[in-house]
Amino acid sequence: MSRVYNFCSGPAALPEAVLAKAQAELLDWHGTGVSVMEMSHRSDEFMSILASAKTRLSKLLNISDDYEIVFTQGGASASFAQIPANLTNGFASACYLDTGAWSSKALKEAQKYTRVVVAGSSKDVNYTTVPDFSSLNLDEKAAYLHLTPNETIGGLEFADLPETNLPIVADLSSTILSRQIDVSKYGLIYAGAQKNVGPAGVVINIIRKDLLARSNNDALPSIWSFENLAKNDSMINTPPTFAIYLADLVFEWLEAQGGVPAMEKLNIEKADLLYGAIDNSGFYSNPIDVRYRSRMNVPFVLADESLEKTFLTESEEAGLRTLAGHRSVGGMRASIYNAMPLAGVQALVDFMHAFEKRYG
Ligand SMILES: Cc1ncc(COP(=O)(O)O)c(C=O)c1O
Repeated sequence: MSRVYNFCSGPAALPEAVLAKAQAELLDWHGTGVSVMEMSHRSDEFMSILASAKTRLSKLLNISDDYEIVFTQGGASASFAQIPANLTNGFASACYLDTGAWSSKALKEAQKYTRVVVAGSSKDVNYTTVPDFSSLNLDEKAAYLHLTPNETIGGLEFADLPETNLPIVADLSSTILSRQIDVSKYGLIYAGAQKNVGPAGVVINIIRKDLLARSNNDALPSIWSFENLAKNDSMINTPPTFAIYLADLVFEWLEAQGGVPAMEKLNIEKADLLYGAIDNSGFYSNPIDVRYRSRMNVPFVLADESLEKTFLTESEEAGLRTLAGHRSVGGMRASIYNAMPLAGVQALVDFMHAFEKRYG
């Protein structure tokens, strides 16, 4: 068996130790004689896995009792509709910050449910920066303010939040657990699992309890009501049991690494190494305002575009997998989530230097 360094933006690399543990437990979970995939979601065994995942996540992110953790399905793309469907009840509008491909998708979906106020947009500069928070167009009567703090395609990330009394709803799909955050500043955090948490198929939602009262259960599909989901411990129907189990194993692995502060330190080191290699060459470049460069997704282009295909072929041969940029933007992108070790980024940087020497 030979594993390569996998720079895929999602579904992304998982920690090898997690895969090995899942493999060891695959046929017989904890002496039950069955796989987690084969157990009733209402069994004591699976309920213990679900409870463990929630407890570990709460500890990792310091989540207070004011919040419910709810697991949903349909990917973060379903959340783009589920969130306005639940939270705009009783409100005439919702505010959205437009900072890239994912926030603009979320915004378009919300327009089917409510009047969307674009609080700020960096579209006119090709989403290379974040709109100035001091001059946002905020409707203080809106249902919430939606943000995408890490734009996975553009490689743009911001950690500060705008000053507002509106509940902040944030899509943390590609940054959750990679850096420390203050959960109490958010109304709702949601994240598709397949980047920093586990396999595709489950979305983590961390919802402030007072917002649950907004769900209009007469109008919403039952399985979409956040209130219903919270009341039924994410078990209105069969949840994605295996994905939740793997998320629990990833949370356990994160604890062993020293939790989110240790991951953040490592993620800064990895990002500095890669951006340093890009900036110190005349051969590679990254277009994002340096204040807002993503630590998780690092897009770059070559000065000579005609070399891109060769770069991708040769990097793949060198055991550096999936470095192509998103199909909508081209170029290269290295996604370096929690599970990517420093050695993987070093191997990429070494390859980039060698490639530049050969072709630059
Ligand atoms: C920030 C962000 N939001 C939403 C999505 C959509 O996720 P899904 O494919 O699970 O619907 C993605 C997927 O890459 C993403 O990166």
